[in-house]
Amino acid sequence: MERILSGYRPTGMIHLGNYFGSLVNWIKLQSEYDCYFEVADYHALTTYYQHTDELPDYKLEMARDWLAAGLSPDKATIFIQSLVPEHAELHVLLSMLVPVPWLERNPTVKEMIRDMNLQGNVTYGLLGYPVLQAADILIYKAKCVPVGQDQLPHIELAREIAKRFNHLYGETFPVPEPILSQHPKVPGIDGRKMSKSLQNAIFIRDTYEDIEKKVYQAFTDPKKIRLGDPGHPEGCVVFAYHNLVNKDEIAQIETDCRSGKLGCVECKKRCAHAIYEFFTPVREKLQNFTLEKTKEILVEGSRKARKVAQATLEEVKERMHLK
Ligand code: TRP
Repeated sequence: MERILSGYRPTGMIHLGNYFGSLVNWIKLQSEYDCYFEVADYHALTTYYQHTDELPDYKLEMARDWLAAGLSPDKATIFIQSLVPEHAELHVLLSMLVPVPWLERNPTVKEMIRDMNLQGNVTYGLLGYPVLQAADILIYKAKCVPVGQDQLPHIELAREIAKRFNHLYGETFPVPEPILSQHPKVPGIDGRKMSKSLQNAIFIRDTYEDIEKKVYQAFTDPKKIRLGDPGHPEGCVVFAYHNLVNKDEIAQIETDCRSGKLGCVECKKRCAHAIYEFFTPVREKLQNFTLEKTKEILVEGSRKARKVAQATLEEVKERMHLK
């Protein structure tokens, strides 16, 4: 079976952007591939090194969201990055062969710096985090990496690093390919990319009241002001959410928005309900995964992952004449 690796930074709970951007794919692919999914806690430090007190909670709670949404330890290896320290060692080795301009031109890192106001405060770890990500992927010799659209520059870098390594030291790593979901880019309530750090996210654990409040604030067609005005669903965030969670009604909503029959208030109300209901089964399943059980799953997964990672690292060190 071919191998897959992916992961998220544990900087908060799972939101619609994570869920539709890649988690749905992970759930599907876990039955078809030998899958590794990591809680990327080293990665979380790239921007949250000053606030690590919440990290232990986020690691477990994010993994609980994954499990409740349908990832299964019987099908996939689910683990914590820092429990497999070989990732860090491979990162050091790979960092030696990565020219700095390859990192400086990365549009996703640039966007993070801009959105999080990090200008002048870019750490070595943040600039180099796509190399760590390449180490995550290559240490499992993963062929495919299911991600959201924002991660494509990182996969491109992992491909370049794999090729460069193979060229210098002999064929070692498969060149990994990204796998995008049907909805690789989900807008946040302000119309920008949905992201925890932009505070524009709807989380799968949000209460109905939270969701309603957020959807009511959401960015809609600016030309549609009152009931009867014809709407333009293509630029509307609320319509984008209907398209994710309310497939059965989407055609009718589009028609009624365009004709002016459906006003934004009513449309938002239906949207908030649809989002809440879509995730009811996930919220219910959270109860099946206590923190203790989740921890057990992650520790066991990390033990399995570590065996594979150790074998690859040995091979890499031999090829680089470090052994
Ligand atoms: N950078 C990813 C994110 O911000 C998380 C991540 C870490 C990842 N390592 C990875 C994704 C390896 C895919 C493969 O969400």
